[in-house]
Order: sequence, then C-alpha cells, then structure tokens
Amino acid sequence: MATIRRLQCNRILLRTLAPGPRLQTGVCSKLGAMYYWLLRCLLFGFCLGAGVAAPASRPFEDSMAQRTLACTGCHGDQGRAGPDGYYPRLAGKPAGYLYQQLRNFRDGRRHYTPMTGLLDSLDDAYLQALADYFSALSVPYPAPKPAASNPAEQERGRTLVQEGNPSRGIPACTQCHGLELTGVNPDIPGLLGLPGDYLNAQLGGWQTGQRGTSAPDCMATIAKRLTAADIHVVSTWLSAQTVPPNAHAADRKPTATRAPMDLPCAKRPAPASASGELQPRGAYLALVGNCAHCHTARGGAAYAGGRAIDTPFGAVLSSNISSDREHGIGAWSADDFWRALHHGESRNGRLLNPAFPYTSFTHMSRTDTDALLAYLQTVPAQSRANQPHALRWPLNTQLALRAWRTLFFRPASTPPLATNPLPPGAAELQRGAYLVQGPGHCFECHGSRNLLGALTGDRDGSVLPGSQWFAPSLSDPAQASVAGWTVEETARFLQTGVNDKAVASGPMAEVVLHGTQYLNDADALAMAQYLRALPQQPSGSAPQAVQRATATAGAKLYEKHCADCHGQQGLGRAGVYPALAGNRAVLLANSNNLVHAVLGGGFAAATAGHARPYGMPPFMLQLSDSEIAAVLTYVRSAWGNRAAAVSEFDINKLRRSQAP
Ligand code: HEC
Ligand code: HEC
Ligand code: HEC
Ligand code: HEC
Ligand code: HEC
Repeated sequence: MATIRRLQCNRILLRTLAPGPRLQTGVCSKLGAMYYWLLRCLLFGFCLGAGVAAPASRPFEDSMAQRTLACTGCHGDQGRAGPDGYYPRLAGKPAGYLYQQLRNFRDGRRHYTPMTGLLDSLDDAYLQALADYFSALSVPYPAPKPAASNPAEQERGRTLVQEGNPSRGIPACTQCHGLELTGVNPDIPGLLGLPGDYLNAQLGGWQTGQRGTSAPDCMATIAKRLTAADIHVVSTWLSAQTVPPNAHAADRKPTATRAPMDLPCAKRPAPASASGELQPRGAYLALVGNCAHCHTARGGAAYAGGRAIDTPFGAVLSSNISSDREHGIGAWSADDFWRALHHGESRNGRLLNPAFPYTSFTHMSRTDTDALLAYLQTVPAQSRANQPHALRWPLNTQLALRAWRTLFFRPASTPPLATNPLPPGAAELQRGAYLVQGPGHCFECHGSRNLLGALTGDRDGSVLPGSQWFAPSLSDPAQASVAGWTVEETARFLQTGVNDKAVASGPMAEVVLHGTQYLNDADALAMAQYLRALPQQPSGSAPQAVQRATATAGAKLYEKHCADCHGQQGLGRAGVYPALAGNRAVLLANSNNLVHAVLGGGFAAATAGHARPYGMPPFMLQLSDSEIAAVLTYVRSAWGNRAAAVSEFDINKLRRSQAP
C-alpha cells in the first residue's frame, strides 16, 4: 500500500514537471503534496492559489463570459491560455474542433479529470454553445519563443511540417492544417501560437492512447508514425513560428504542397436532441427510468452495456440490452423481459444483481414493460459481449444472491399505493407513487440501506457507494423533502434541474439530465404531488455548536474565491448562483456534497427548460485540504448558518475517491 502511494506520488511529481494530465494531490502523503506545490512555485513562478486566477470582481452580466467563469479560471481570461502554457488556448479555434474536444472529454476519449467532471451535466447543445462562444473570441497571440534547437533540427522540423515524409507514410501537416497552419474550418485546429510543451504532450498523448477522438482518428495514425525525435523537432519548429496578424482558420480546403495522402478524419456528429413529448410510450419510459445512462459505457454505443455500477461489494457491469440477438435482448420475449424487470431473473434463469434496480422496477406494470421492450428492440444492435462483474467473494455467487433475495426481495404483487386506503379521486397521487417508486426508482438512492446493501424501507437518505455523494432524505424537511415547495416548484426542479430554492448537483444533475427533464407536465406534477405527500420524518438533529476561531480563517478564503459569485452575505443571485446562507444543502450533517462541489465544481444540468446553466470552477488544484475545510466551515457557520465544522480529513477522503 505504502509503495503504491509512493509510486503515485512520484508520478505526480513527474507530471508536475512534464506536461500532460495531472493526478490530484490527494493520493499522496502530505509530504508529497507539499513538494507538489513547492515545485509548481519554483517552476512556474506561481504559488498556491495564485496559479488559477480568482475571478476578478466584476459586475454580473447575463452573458457567456459569465457562464464560463468556471472555464477561464484555468484557460485564462477569454480563453487566451493559462499563465504557464499548460492550459491550452481556446479563443479563435474552429468551433467544430472545440465542440469535438468537449465531447471527447465528456465521453472519455480524452482524459483530464477536472474537465470531465465539469462537463458531465451538460448536453451536446450546450457544448456547441460553449464551442461557438470561444471560437468567436479574437485575442492576440503571445510572441513565439525563440527556437532553442540547432539549424539542422529546425530544417528537419520545417520539412516534416511542410512536406511530410511520404516514404514513412507521414503526410505534410499543412495538407490538413492549412498552408498557413492556422487551421481549416470547421474541424481542424491551427498549429501556431501553441507552446512547444503542449504540442509535445498532445502528439505523445495520441501515441499512448491518452488522447483520442471519434474514429477514424487520423491524428492517432500520424502520431504513431512519428519518432520521439520527430515530435521534438516538429514541436520546436512550430512553436517558434510567428502567428500571422489576424490569423484565423481558412474556410476551404487548402491545396496541398504534395500529393495528398488519403487519411480520413472523423466527421463531426450533429448535436443530438431528445424530447419526451414526441417519443412513443416505451422510449418515454426508457428516458424516465434512465435505462440508457446505466446501460451505456462512457463514450460507448447506446445500450451496449459495460458501465460499472459501484456497490459496497465491488462493481457490477450493466448488460447489453440493445436489439442484438446474441449479446443483447433482441431475441427476448415479452415474458423474458417481464421476468428480468419484475422478478430480477435473466432469460437463462441467472439471478440478477440488485445494482440493476429491479427492486424498484418490480413495481412497473406489464403494459409498461411490454412497451419498453418494444422500444428497446428498435434500438440499433450492438454486438458487444457482456463481461464478468468485479464483485468480491462470496457476493459474486448465485448462492449469495439467492440468500440475499430471500431476505430482502419480494416481487411486487400490487401497484404501489400512495396512501392506504387511497382517498377518492386521488388518481394523480397514485400515478405519482407509481412513477417515483417504479420507473423513476428515486428511493434506490434516497432510501436507506442496511449493511448488506438492501433498502430498509426507512427513508433517511444514504451515502452512494463509490462517489460518496450523499442522497438526502425525501421525507426530512431539513434534507430533501419537498413538503415546503409548491407542486409547481417541485415539478420545475425535476424538469429543469433548478428552482428558486435548490439546484440539482452531481448525481442528481445527471438524473435530471438523462431522466426527469423528459417528464411530461402531467407526470411531473403527479410526482410532485406524491413527493409532497410523503410522511415527514424530521431528523431532529440539534443545531451544532460552532468553533468561531476555525471559521474566521475561512472568511478570508471565502472573500477571495467565492464572494464574487455567492455574494458577501452568501445570498447568491436568484436563478444563477445558489444562495449559501440558509441553504439546507449546505447545512446537511453529512458534508460530502459540499466537499464535492468545491473540489470538482460543476454546472447545473443543461435542460430544455434551463439550457445555459452557469458554472462553478473546480478548486481541487487550487486549494489544499485545510483551506477547503476552513472555507466550508466558514460557510456553514456564517450568516446565521449553524452546522458542524468540516475537517481536513473529510476533504482528504473525497479527494482520494476522485483520483482517476
Ligand atoms: C482545472 C482546470 C481546467 C478547467 C476548469 C477547464 N479546463 Fe479545459 N483543459 C484543461 C487542460 C489541462 C486541458 C488540456 C488537457 C490535455 O492535455 O489533453 C484542457 C483542454 C481543453 C480543451 C481542448 C483544447 C484543444 O485545443 O485541444 C477545450 C476545448 C477545453 N479545455 C474547454 C474547456 C471549457 C469549455 C471549460 C469550462 C466548461 C474548461 N475547459 C474548464 C484544464 C481545464
Ligand atoms: C489528414 C489530416 C491531418 C494531417 C495530415 C495532420 N493533422 Fe493534425 N489534426 C487533424 C485533425 C482532424 C485534428 C483534430 C483531432 C481531434 O478531433 O482531436 C488534428 C489535431 C492536431 C493537433 C492538436 C491541436 C490542439 O490544439 O490540441 C496537433 C498538435 C496536430 N494535429 C499536429 C499535427 C502535425 C504535427 C501534423 C504533421 C506531422 C499533422 N497534425 C497532420 C488532421 C490532420
Ligand atoms: C442504476 C443503473 C441501472 C439502471 C437505471 C437500469 N439498469 Fe438495467 N441493469 C443494470 C445492471 C448493473 C445490470 C446487470 C445485472 C447483473 O448482471 O446481475 C442490469 C441488467 C438489466 C437487464 C438484464 C439483462 C440480462 O442480460 O440479463 C435488463 C433486461 C435491464 N437491465 C433492463 C433495464 C431497463 C429496461 C432499464 C430502464 C427502465 C434499466 N435496465 C435501468 C443497471 C441498471
Ligand atoms: C443516482 C442517485 C439518485 C437518484 C436515482 C435520485 N436522486 Fe435525488 N439526489 C441525489 C443526490 C446525490 C442529491 C444531493 C445533491 C443535490 O442536492 O442535488 C439529490 C437531491 C435531491 C433533491 C434535493 C434538492 C435540494 O437541494 O433540496 C430532491 C428533491 C431529489 N433529489 C429528488 C429526487 C427524485 C424525485 C428522484 C426520482 C426521480 C431522485 N431524486 C432520484 C441522488 C439521486
Ligand atoms: C464563478 C462563480 C462561482 C464561484 C467563484 C464559486 N461558485 Fe459555488 N457555485 C456556483 C454555481 C453556478 C453553482 C451551482 C452549480 C452546481 O450545483 O453544480 C455553485 C454551487 C455551489 C455549492 C452547492 C450549493 C447547492 O445548493 O447544492 C456550494 C456549497 C458552493 N458553490 C460553494 C462555493 C465555495 C465555497 C466557493 C469558493 C471556494 C465557490 N462556491 C465559488 C458558482 C460559483
């Protein structure tokens, strides 16, 4: 264990020196973390907190610049590039290229944890809007660095870029990147004005698989034909060139200097859009039940399975449920499918792991499972074979599952009742109970579980395995109960991810993005009615005494890093930045969600009803564990807030769980 930790530390130190994605400091011992910051100070001339500029105090405006403050902290004002050349420039790059990169980060073809986390709650349409915004910005390029290499190396670099090396299958870079090397609209970026280290790291990234794009990935082919020496001379030559004044990407294909080598590159897919209203019944249920999200691996084909679902006993991989007859469920009958959703048994009799929430889907009606199957049998077949789960013994055995099911699972015999007996005319309440307990499977996260991972029927909320986000209780007014919201406010939260009282973050933002935003109005209102009618179980935890001394240390950090958005008095800005004063999400006894919010930042979900959310920058690289503990302790004790202090340990354990 100690060796692994030391190895990871060394990797971090190396990555501090070499460009490329960095690991977070949390996997290191404290000593390693101190080295990390010290090295950054020495190497790049900036120290803790100063590396990523705090947003300058400026008046609020309803603009993309405001919405992208979460990006420009790293990428520099207007996306002009970060101070040390590590954070790439975004301004003026072709929009199609930027869009493709944002998709690559979100869908796992390009790797940098802080960016992936930020983009998880955003849809294609918003990624396109972000790309268009940065692409339209025109800011001056920095002066090139004089080349340090000798003239012979310079000439080798120039030749490779302008003429390629046909005998080794290396096309001229100008063939695609434009004769001026300033890029070609809409998809090909320029190669000038980029630091040599960045170019090196990108070409190296393609060689190692760290960077990729949708197939066919022409750059991966080209990079693999380059030697380390080629990459060095090409990067050095490119970074020494002056960017022509008013440089912009060319609009048409440039004529090649040599006979073009036929290397196809990926075509950019059009942004997808789905709307609940227009779907047939089965497709609508698949959205509400979030089937696609669990059954699609990051960046993988829809419904081909392979996403790892964390449980306390290891990861369970979701199955291929596309229409493939061999590997998917293309050959399943309606009875087979009913058996899986209602009884939790696969077609061949295998007992299914409850990471597949059949403990909720068992409440679904036969009419609905039939409609779902009819829809799933129309989704394109994917021939991906299912892989074995990564579960620990004995929970990987059918015997253990059988025992578990005997103790904790009964297939539902009647539809779930909102109240028993049902008041007359309560059809809407009944519909809400069905959607929440059945397809919506809300209590799978929001209900409490026992040590064997089974839902207890209590509704105290629970910590999600893996990510450690806390799903608060839907029955506790101090947690996530909506009894204090109107039916309309509740429906708005489900359909858009925000209302005046709350914003869905982290896993809840994904539930909204992939699921509840597609609810039609009648169903959203029905769910809201039922949620409001849930019996209330106040947790009654006494307000915590607060240590003033620790809190004042955080006040300064708050002023510097947070007050511009969340306000001096923690009042936020309605519909834009959540208030932190009196916000129950801030006051939960379990502080995990706050720690996640500050470490990883994030956007509210991009939904049809809230299409362009504002963002919060990640602070994982900028603030140490003790600083985050101090600022959160302050937030939890200022402006009349009264919640327990957050400790350095609370931060450290989540930093670890976020490590890639
Ligand atoms: C924590 C710092 C950080 C934040 C915050 C951040 N990025 Fe990045 N971004 C990076 C780094 C580092 C890279 C380069 C990663 C690599 O080497 O592959 C990158 C790469 C990119 C690229 C690819 C650039 C290229 O030329 O290939 C785009 C586009 C991008 N970011 C957009 C965004 C947007 C939009 C946001 C806000 C939603 C954002 N980034 C937030 C650090 C950040
Ligand atoms: C067949 C067309 C083609 C040729 C030839 C080509 N490129 Fe590219 N290049 C692309 C495409 C397409 C992209 C965008 C890839 C993506 O979506 O990530 C790209 C991206 C890049 C990037 C990433 C830029 C950034 O901002 O992150 C670098 C670096 C690069 N190319 C270097 C080169 C070099 C060096 C050569 C010559 C040895 C070369 N390319 C030749 C098509 C080409
Ligand atoms: C929380 C994640 C999650 C959600 C949401 C989810 N599933 Fe699954 N599903 C799984 C996992 C994990 C498995 C694999 C269980 C196993 O192999 O023991 C699975 C298995 C299945 C199976 C059995 C496949 C087989 O080959 O035996 C079917 C059918 C299925 N899911 C359908 C659905 C449908 C329909 C929905 C939406 C209404 C859905 N799932 C939603 C995680 C999920
Ligand atoms: C994958 C797990 C998961 C599922 C499924 C889930 N939630 Fe959540 N939910 C969370 C987490 C984590 C939070 C805390 C983060 C936050 O406040 O947004 C949360 C927060 C909430 C909040 C509180 C908002 C606030 O800040 O006051 C409400 C209300 C809510 N969920 C309702 C629902 C409903 C209704 C469903 C079913 C359609 C549902 N959730 C399904 C994980 C989940
Ligand atoms: C650029 C503006 C900006 C800055 C700076 C910023 N935030 Fe945020 N913050 C947001 C936005 C936007 C959200 C909502 C996004 C989300 O929920 O993912 C948010 C959400 C939060 C939440 C979750 C609130 C909830 O209701 O779930 C907390 C806690 C938080 N911020 C604390 C902080 C702290 C502490 C700092 C300083 C270290 C800070 N923020 C700096 C914009 C900002």
